[in-house]
Amino acid sequence: MGTENATETAGLAGERSKDGLGWMEWIRGWMAVIGEMMFQRIAASHLQNPLPLPPVNELTFVVTGSTSGIGLQIARQLAEAGAHVIMAVRNPKAAHDLIQKWQNEWSGMILPLNVEVMELDLLSLESVVRFAEAYNARLGPLHVLINNAGIFSIGEPQKFSKDGYEQHMQVNHLAPALLSVLLLPSLIRGSPSRIVNVNSVMHYVGFVDPEDMNVISGRKKYTSLLGYCGSKLAQVMFSSVLHKRLPAEAGISVLCVSPGVVYTNVARDLPRILQVGYRFIPYFIFDAQEGSRSTLFAATDPQVPEYCETLKADDWPVGAFISQDCRPTNPSEEAHNVETSYKVWEKTMELIGLPSDAVERLIEGNEVTCRYSMTD
Ligand SMILES: NC(=O)c1ccc[n+]([C@@H]2O[C@H](COP(=O)([O-])OP(=O)(O)OC[C@H]3O[C@@H](n4cnc5c(N)ncnc54)[C@H](OP(=O)(O)O)[C@@H]3O)[C@@H](O)[C@H]2O)c1
Repeated sequence: MGTENATETAGLAGERSKDGLGWMEWIRGWMAVIGEMMFQRIAASHLQNPLPLPPVNELTFVVTGSTSGIGLQIARQLAEAGAHVIMAVRNPKAAHDLIQKWQNEWSGMILPLNVEVMELDLLSLESVVRFAEAYNARLGPLHVLINNAGIFSIGEPQKFSKDGYEQHMQVNHLAPALLSVLLLPSLIRGSPSRIVNVNSVMHYVGFVDPEDMNVISGRKKYTSLLGYCGSKLAQVMFSSVLHKRLPAEAGISVLCVSPGVVYTNVARDLPRILQVGYRFIPYFIFDAQEGSRSTLFAATDPQVPEYCETLKADDWPVGAFISQDCRPTNPSEEAHNVETSYKVWEKTMELIGLPSDAVERLIEGNEVTCRYSMTD
């Protein structure tokens, strides 16, 4: 056993750290992306639209980015199915206007929709802490956190948040990671509960250098594609480690989901000509309601917790990933790199201002202090 360990360690030390995907990985990654684009409708042809939901009327859901696209559909369908929905948004006025519209269109029913709004700007880690503190202070349960909000600033130059982080990395990975950890006390109260991350097939062509999550070292030339795909892969890796660190008794499932290729405001930054093209390929592209199905499935299907526990019991290297057709699938080859996943975990915890044992401490019922908290 000792020799085995020594050989293993020597092997790791001898390995050069990777500075990108290998050619074959890259080709297979793009084949997955193109495959999803071309064949998602065929793969998902067994699904109804909208997806019928199991009973959710006793459950509370937080949905980030629910003023537009996939998140809007998720929030509305959950509310219409009787759930208590909290729209966690950066533009509360837009959310209130939407609720008004939904209530008016719902007026034939006996009970009004149970939807409320809380402000959350993922470009500010302080805003994330404020949101989590306010939610946890209610001392109520949270059954499902849906980390949906995301950006893809196609073709734009590299931008940083006021916290100093590359914006795709912050909005798509760091801020949702902080939110997930800080909301653990409420998720424990709601157990069995779930964290569902709206990820992307684009993570198959993503690469993360844990020592350069801001892409500033110059080892790789920054493009918005690199920023987006890297942030989505970082989320898959972080989720796999979070899933492993949560003991089965906590009853919290962690999943990533691909919504498919969906016509939403995410295309708002595309060049005009591409936006026109985007609109003319409806056969291939899902509408937002179709794109909400895999997330709603991950958030509500009764078999999901058991599936997540099986992966944990089998010591599978990655957490659950649900594809756009609501079937479990394997995330990318790079996502299976356990050593890098743990480095991404450590680096993420450092960047979001939490101690690396924050999850264990919160599970034991202790408090943790975040560097971005204003109350210290
Ligand atoms: N559409 C696709 O083909 C596709 C494919 C794969 C994955 N996804 C993922 O699906 C998720 C939803 O995207 P979508 O396609 O529905 O795009 P969308 O229509 O642009 O919606 C994105 C939502 O995120 C919110 N948001 C953006 N920045 C935020 C911030 N700093 N703080 C709080 N909220 C913020 C937006 O708020 P505002 O309304 O205020 O702008 C909006 O509500 C994203 O994670 C995206 O990466 C989409």
